Amino acid sequence: MTPARTRIAALAGIATLAAGVALALPGSATARPGSATVDPQPTAVPDAPDIPLSAVTTHLEEFQSIAEANGGNRYTGQPGYRASLDYVQAQLDAAGFVTEVQSFSTRAGTSYNLIADWPGGDPTNTVMMGGHLDSVDEGPGINDNGTGSAAILASALAFAQSGAEPTNHVRFGFWGAEELGLLGSTHYVDSLSTVEVDDLAAYFNFDMVGSPNPGYFVYDDDANGTELRDSLTASYDAAGIDSDYIDVDGRSDHAAFMQRGIPTAGTFSGAEGTKTSTQAAKWGGQAGQAYDPCYHSACDDIDNLDTAALDLNADLIADTLWAWADHDFGGGTTEPPTGDDAITNGGFEDGTTGWQATNGVVTTDLDQSAHGGSGKAWLNGYGRAHTDSVAQTVTVPDAGRLTFWLRVDTDEDTTGQAYDTLRVKAGSTTLGTWSNLDAGDYRSIALDLSAYAGQSVALTFVGTEDAYLASDFVIDDVSLTSAG
Ligand code: PHE
Ligand code: ZN
Ligand code: ZN
Ligand code: CA
Repeated sequence: MTPARTRIAALAGIATLAAGVALALPGSATARPGSATVDPQPTAVPDAPDIPLSAVTTHLEEFQSIAEANGGNRYTGQPGYRASLDYVQAQLDAAGFVTEVQSFSTRAGTSYNLIADWPGGDPTNTVMMGGHLDSVDEGPGINDNGTGSAAILASALAFAQSGAEPTNHVRFGFWGAEELGLLGSTHYVDSLSTVEVDDLAAYFNFDMVGSPNPGYFVYDDDANGTELRDSLTASYDAAGIDSDYIDVDGRSDHAAFMQRGIPTAGTFSGAEGTKTSTQAAKWGGQAGQAYDPCYHSACDDIDNLDTAALDLNADLIADTLWAWADHDFGGGTTEPPTGDDAITNGGFEDGTTGWQATNGVVTTDLDQSAHGGSGKAWLNGYGRAHTDSVAQTVTVPDAGRLTFWLRVDTDEDTTGQAYDTLRVKAGSTTLGTWSNLDAGDYRSIALDLSAYAGQSVALTFVGTEDAYLASDFVIDDVSLTSAG
């Protein structure tokens, strides 16, 4: 239900409220939470908390139970996959992540990706971590890739627990159908616009991090990923591990990211390959034997683990997350330009100043929350044929982009058809369209304005409702930035 839209012309004369606007300053306040569990593994970055082994194995035990209850696997198209995804999503939702399930078809049935965003941080420098959540059909897939999934999940939950306010935006991906040919990660990357790809500053992949005869490998297959690779290697060094580079050769989910120029790296504890005597001498374990003799087999179960390797890799993932969440990517400005290039009153705290809006759109009405402060642009929500708009004319800087936060609240069906729409236009050109199908809380949207560099152009948000059932489109914190 959308809130009843009863106001007639709640035109905001709210300049006095502007002084009370809370500015969300990016910070590095990622304090280590108190933990009763002592872990002997050193961590490379002092800020990152230790991830207790039990925080990882609790998820692995859940994956094992899910497989046992669902025909012994967590394979694409089988109920064990969806149950795994539902479990991970519930954990992340409860911790305060904004999650989204992306579905796609495969020859083995429908599969799903789970995307989880930690609110806040600079969206133009998004740091992402991921791994595949599916198993092969032969077994429960605990090492491949329950371990990567569980270790990422444990780090994400610790990150939330710490109350992190990262400099960069942080996102996690749990991929479906990797075992069918990297389908989920490819689908995700294909769904991104050029601007969204541009915004991904780093992608870390973790596929198999607890192999029973473990290796300690760092991906070395992405020319753009050198800085990420070196960070992972440094974390191993700090833990006293002399890691080896590996050319993964497109065998895991970072490949799709790499192909679109996003810097990638990852770690790997080994699959069907054989441990050398040099490796056994520095890492322990059995030379001449597979890193994971149960790779892609029924015996890849809860006993198919080296818990010391798993514990160490979980701490490394947390170190990496903490370090890169606040990493200084330098280069591009994230500050809105000033003067002619700026959006005036992008947070709608000064009423309609700078904006041309239809009646009642710019408001402090409490029935819809603001993204920041109390003012926002609330378009539509009448449940009858109606059009609202809010516009501002700007001079677009070089490599300009329009970013804003959008909340869609609807009484319409959210899976069928787009009945009520929000269009964002530059002049007469539509840059993007959202609808009742995009129902959900505030999300950050970035649109490429580079085609309008140097031009004066009207940026218009247009909300159109059909004759039945209300949809509310709420816009806040609009800014015009230069990605250059
Ligand atoms: N992607 C492989 C699988 O899931 C495992 C793998 C990971 C192989 C990383 C090489 C490097 O089966
Ligand atoms: Zn596999
Ligand atoms: Zn795998
Ligand atoms: Ca606001």
